[in-house]
Formats: sequence, structure tokens, C-alpha cells
Amino acid sequence: MYKYDDNTIDRSNTASVKYEEMDMKFGRDDLTPLWVADMDIKAPDFIIDAIKKRAEHGIFGYSKRMPEFYDSIVNWLDTRHDLKVTSEDIEYAPGVVFLLNMMIRKFTEKGDKIIIQPPVYYPFKSVIEGNDRVVMESELVLKGDKYEMDFEDLKKKASHPDCKMMLLCSPHNPTGRVWKKEELEKLGRICIDNDVLVVSDEIHYDLVYKPNKHIPFASISDEFKKNSITCTAPSKTFNIAGLHSAFCIINDKERMDIYRSELGLLDLNRSNVFSQTVTQTVYENGHEWVDGVNEFLKGNMEYCVDYINKNIDGIHALELEGTYLLWMDCRGLHLSLEKLDDLFINKAGLALDSGHWFGKPGEGFMRLNLACPREVLKDSLEKLEAAVKSL
Ligand SMILES: Cc1ncc(COP(=O)(O)O)c(C=O)c1O
Repeated sequence: MYKYDDNTIDRSNTASVKYEEMDMKFGRDDLTPLWVADMDIKAPDFIIDAIKKRAEHGIFGYSKRMPEFYDSIVNWLDTRHDLKVTSEDIEYAPGVVFLLNMMIRKFTEKGDKIIIQPPVYYPFKSVIEGNDRVVMESELVLKGDKYEMDFEDLKKKASHPDCKMMLLCSPHNPTGRVWKKEELEKLGRICIDNDVLVVSDEIHYDLVYKPNKHIPFASISDEFKKNSITCTAPSKTFNIAGLHSAFCIINDKERMDIYRSELGLLDLNRSNVFSQTVTQTVYENGHEWVDGVNEFLKGNMEYCVDYINKNIDGIHALELEGTYLLWMDCRGLHLSLEKLDDLFINKAGLALDSGHWFGKPGEGFMRLNLACPREVLKDSLEKLEAAVKSL
């Protein structure tokens, strides 16, 4: 039995971004950190043991990525996600945002337009603009409690002659949607018909609540596989982002050669000994742990949705299909963006991602990271309830 709900974790003095960068981001360091997507859940013993075993060898020279590393990924994709690929289709990256940058630089030109679907993980916009490409927004539409894609708008945007790429977020951060096969099929068809390459960020792919099921974009058909690049990682699933291990799936030899030669040029074609060991270990041994973490997170999600929607007037939490990032509609409080931040930070003592960071349609929303002990959530929501009542 694995332990997920551990209230004794102390992350001080571990150089954790979630804790040590709070001051820089929120102007205070005494808040409860419910922001960046990093879980307050300790890694299982099989990860710690694998690192110790490798460390005890005592030599950490240049490290080659071995066939077993690729095989462990191929097997995970097949057994958990029904995605059939070969080792030739897979290559390492230090992170998913790194991959988004690489794909934009290598497979579009300056000035090209790239579609995103806000509200969306904010680096999507900054990687496009930072590489001198142009953002094309096709906003998601909130219908009842669920966000949906606007296919008419998508068609219009994709048919622009300068539109060359789309960054898909699947499962979607921050709305918690796990896209259905039919939705992905429609999107993929539009992109193929308009010669738009789909870069599918599937970093949250293992964190999905039953009965929802993640459908890898590349699993839908060979045509979709060819017209896409999947970027994903074990980092969200096992909370190992600090080990910098991600990978891409490219089922087009010419594109893969371009990516691999760029990795070589950047001297990233070698492996960090610990990241390789851990990726292989989690993909070989992690099935039971992931099933358990999803149960735990689903329980946290249901607790938060129930508590907020019953007790906090003016805030409505949307039920998640996947991810541990709760998207809360706070527009019922009728506060300006500054006042809403002030409510969470200074009145409730909580550090959350502000909705407007995710684009204009995120204004008036807040994103809460619920991957922490239930006690922390209970205490945080009580503080939030009291702060709202004091308005
Ligand atoms: C959708 C999405 N993509 C990418 C990342 C970051 O990935 P990495 O740390 O591998 O760059 C995150 C982190 O929250 C994310 O939510």
C-alpha cells in the first residue's frame, strides 16, 4: 500500500520552486502554496531505492541512453494508453516546454501563425511570441460546467495561409478536460485538411479520473500520428519534474532526424544518469502507484468541488476529468483582478495561479493545485470561506 495523504512532509530547505519562489511571485512567503503543478506527495520507495542503488555505484560519467530506456516508454504507452510506437519514434528531452520551443523553431518560420486554445497553460503563448511567431487564439467555450472546442472558429483560424501549427493541450490545463475521441478526430481532421502540424502536449496523460480515458492524439490513426508530434513526460505523474526527463513521439523520419541533430548540437544527446534510471524505473514499476494516486486525487477533487460549491457563495468549482488543477469560476464575487488576487493572497493566505495568467478568458478564475494532503485543502478552503464572508 502506498501512502499519498501524508501531512508530515516538510519541503523547507529543498530548493523547491513551489515554496522558495512564492515570495517572488506573490510578494509573501507565508502563504499556503496551492499553485505550480508540483505535488506535495512523496515519491514511492521504488524511485528512492533506484536512485540510491545508482548513487552507490559511485561513478557518474557520461551516460548513454540505453535501449531499455526506450523500451520502458514504448511499453508504458502501449499498456496504459493503447498507443503503439517503436523506439525509433521516441526521443528524450529535458522538459516539455523545451520541446514546444524546439518544435516551433524547427518546424515553423518566423512570422508563422500558431493556434492555441485559451484559457491555456501560459507558456503556450510565451513560447510562440518568444520565438517571433504569432499567436492565433481559438478560445474554448464554457457550456454549463464544461469547456468545449469551437470547431467553426478553429476551421477559420486553421485555414489562414500563414497558420502552420497548433499547440494542443490534452488533457487540458487549466480546465481539466480530457478530450473525447470525437473531439480530437474533428480537430485532427481540420488540421490535416489545412496542413497544420499538431504539437500535442500530453504531460498530464496519466492523471485522469475514471470513467474518463485519455486518448493519445497519435493513437487515433496513422494519418494523425504522421501529422503530429506528441510531447509528454513521467514528471507530472510521479512528481519528478526536478529530474528533467521528458520525451517526444515523432513518427516521421525526416522530422525526427531534424530533432535528433538539434539535440546533438545542443549537447543534450547524453543522459543524466538519475533521470534515465528513474524514467525507466517508473515506467516499469509504476502502474499500481499511478492507479492509487488517481484515486487519491479524485477524492481530493470531489471534496473540494463539494465544499466550495456548497459553502462559498460567488465561487463555483468545475469538476475535473483529469489533472489535479482545479479551475474555479470566481466571477460571482464581482471583484476586479487586483481585488481577487488580494482576496486569495492577503485575506485567505493562499497562493494560487490567477486565471488571467492563462489568457483573457481566464479572467475571474483561479487555479488550485489539489495534489496535497486533505488536511491542507480543508484548512485552505475554510480560510477561503472566511475571507469571502468578510468581504
Ligand atoms: C500542460 C503543461 N505542459 C508542460 C508543463 C511543464 O513541463 P516541463 O516542466 O516538462 O517543461 C506543464 C507544467 O505544469 C503543463 O501543465
